[in-house]
Amino acid sequence: PKVFYIQPDGSETVVEAVAGDSVMQTAVRNGVSGIVGQCGGSLSCATCHVFLAEENADDFAPVSEDEDEMLDCAATEREDNSRLSCQLVLADGQEVRVTVPEAQL
Ligand code: FES
Repeated sequence: PKVFYIQPDGSETVVEAVAGDSVMQTAVRNGVSGIVGQCGGSLSCATCHVFLAEENADDFAPVSEDEDEMLDCAATEREDNSRLSCQLVLADGQEVRVTVPEAQL
């Protein structure tokens, strides 16, 4: 899979990811700025907040109740396409585009 990370200034980083990894893990491993992932993916920090591209909206399981609650705590106000990227687990062949918010902490 491939992940395109778009920064708030519009610059884009493309990362070759590993299937089974999350969008958060992929960012942290590759030093993509703006995704912190403080809790390591256990849905207790909201520092992995991203805006998921519309074209990928149906590529992942919908927002769970716990994810929904944590999104309310995100440093940058949530929008309709907000996700916690630790919950976005990549599958083979997927191409995913996410925008990183202004602030995570
Ligand atoms: Fe903490 Fe995603 S890494 S909620």
